[in-house]
This record gives sequence, C-alpha cells and structure tokens, in this order.
Amino acid sequence: MTLHSSLIRPEIEGLPTYNAGLAASRFQAVYGVPLRAKLDSNENPLGPSPAAIAAALAAAQGLGRYPDASGAALRTALADRLGTSPDRIILGNGSEDLIGVIYRTVLRPGDHVVTVCPSFGLHEFAAQACGARVTKVPFPADWRFPVEGLLAAMGTGARVLIFSSPGNPAGPAITAADFARLIAGTPPDTLVVFDEAYVEYLDPEARFDALELLAASGLAWISLRTFSKAHGLAGARVGYGLAHAAGLVAAMAKARNPFAVNAVAEAAALAALGDDGHLAQGVALAQAERRRVSAALAATGVTCAPSQTNFLFFDCGGPAAETAERLRQRGILIKAWMEPPFGTWARVTMGTGDENDLFLGALRQIRDSR
Ligand SMILES: Cc1ncc(COP(=O)(O)O)c(C=O)c1O
Repeated sequence: MTLHSSLIRPEIEGLPTYNAGLAASRFQAVYGVPLRAKLDSNENPLGPSPAAIAAALAAAQGLGRYPDASGAALRTALADRLGTSPDRIILGNGSEDLIGVIYRTVLRPGDHVVTVCPSFGLHEFAAQACGARVTKVPFPADWRFPVEGLLAAMGTGARVLIFSSPGNPAGPAITAADFARLIAGTPPDTLVVFDEAYVEYLDPEARFDALELLAASGLAWISLRTFSKAHGLAGARVGYGLAHAAGLVAAMAKARNPFAVNAVAEAAALAALGDDGHLAQGVALAQAERRRVSAALAATGVTCAPSQTNFLFFDCGGPAAETAERLRQRGILIKAWMEPPFGTWARVTMGTGDENDLFLGALRQIRDSR
C-alpha cells in the first residue's frame, strides 16, 4: 500500500529509526550463533531483585483490572526516599517515555533545545518530533562537560536544556563546580531536564547534591531516573521524574498516557526499591568491572572515555559498525555509535566478569587480525 505523500509530518519523516539493541530472543535467529554476552543496552547482568520478580508474579493475578492510574503506591515510596511529596513525582513507561511527555508539555514548533554531543538519542529525536530545533554542543577531548558551550548555545533563551550525567553514551559525570556554573548561567525561562538514568553508578567522590543546587536555583527543572539500569528492570519499563514543582507534574500528567505504567511493572519497581542489598551488589559489580575493563583496554592501546556508569565508550580505531558486526558473529553484542563524528566509537555495557572477558578476548582477536 502506498502512503499519501503528505500524510506523514515532515518532522517525523526526517527522524532516524531508533538504534535499539538487539533482543536476546532474536539474536540466534538473526546470527545463527548462540548469544554469549549481551553488552549493548546497559542492562544489569544480575537482573532484578528476587523480591521484584516475586512481586511481579503476584501482581499478575490482578491483570484483569486496570492499574492505579495515579501510581500512588510507587510515587509515595519514591517521595519518602527522596524526602519530597508524591505530587512532585511522575511515573513513566520507562524514563524514555517521560522525555517525550516533557517535550509534548513544553515545546512549541521552532523552539530551541540545547544538549551535548554525543548524547542519548531520544534527547534529540523526541524534541525534533515536536518540531523543535536542537543544538548539540560537543564534549572536548578530555570529556569534561562543555559548560561554556552550553551557556553560549542557550544564549538568552532556550526552551529546554537536557543532558544526562553520568552521561550516555560516553560515561563522564559533571562536577559540582561545573554543574553550579551551568545552572547559574541558564536563562530563567529554560526548563532544565537532568537525566540521571545512571546516578546509582557514581563513585562516592563524584557525588554531590545536584537536586539541592537545582532547588536553590529558582529555575524550572526535572530530574529523570529509571528502574531499568541499577535496579535491573529494563523489561518492566518504569522510570520517574522529580520536578521542581507539582504544577509541572500536573501539566505533564495531561500529556501522558493515563495508564503508562502497568500493574506488574509498578509492583516490581516497588519491591526493587525495598531491596538495597541487590542494588548495591549490581552497582559494586559495574564499578569494579568498569575499572578493570578500562585498564585492560588501555593496556592494549584502546582509547576509552572516563566512565561513572555501567558501560565504557571506546574508540575501535576503525569503523565501529564493522567491529560490532565481527563481535556479533562471535555471539557478543555491543553498540556501535552512529552519531557523527563518533563513527569509530562503540559502547560496551559492563556484564559479568566472564562476559567482559569474552568481549576483551574477541576484541583483541579482531584488532590483531587487522
Ligand atoms: C541517558 C538515558 N536516559 C534515559 C534512558 C531510558 O531508559 P528507560 O526508558 O529504560 O528508563 C536511557 C536508556 O538507555 C538512557 O541511557
């Protein structure tokens, strides 16, 4: 069937297809070899807490009913943790859902969104889908956050400043001093979207109270977090936002699908929130492995960005798509980065020690064979 040429909005027609990781269930059918290490989607190799699985199974008994659209139980539990009130918290079908909800709530066609490069693709594409124009400010070679560039790009006004820290795909974390300078120079009408999908993975010395700085700034802001990474619940699709004011949450709730978070996912997230031991185990594994694997990469002359996350961003020394394809043929999945000028860079998630060793061994073979 042919589409009428004017059917699709030009903003949508111009978007790339999202470069999603390959699901484990499809790998063998596509590549004909067993999947040995799935290191392409920043998932937690330990998976969810057993308590979260038990809660999901129990909640499945109630699948005949719609979930609580207000998500009251999880929002209250999160508010208690964060020392705030539930009306400042919004739940989403993953935090990626909330990125779209934020943009639908605030962006008008032609609005200006400022972010970094490289960055999480949806920060850019979901804004473009709303007809916004996006300026991407490059990181310098030392991977320090480009504060001056971001301030210059915002100038006297941008509707949204959005970035992740620790950042996907490169992994660096913004320092307290840089964050304070950035916030101090952000125009008063700009909404700051601070994506903290990887916040749990920060080393203690890289931590500071960013939300306190935001609260003191007088700006409008929202911090985004997720159960997909450190809580090991990527398949459940639960993310949340903490906003500066209940008014922003109330407005976003109108732009959101009312039942965005399903009952099984909410129950799993609630139980995961109660299992600090499991969370700490996964975080400690990722922190230890990122140190070990980055040292191993450096020892073989591979350039790697500094990471405060559960992944590493490294230069393949040639087209990353080719390296990723050769690894896939060996049953190892990583993500080649498609955003110019990072065509030789790829991102590898920290799996178990054994999975990471498989990756290191295969990468060495591929490099030696060049
Ligand atoms: C920086 C960042 N933000 C948001 C997301 C979305 O995560 P989810 O929708 O699973 O919560 C991701 C996922 O990789 C991410 O890397």
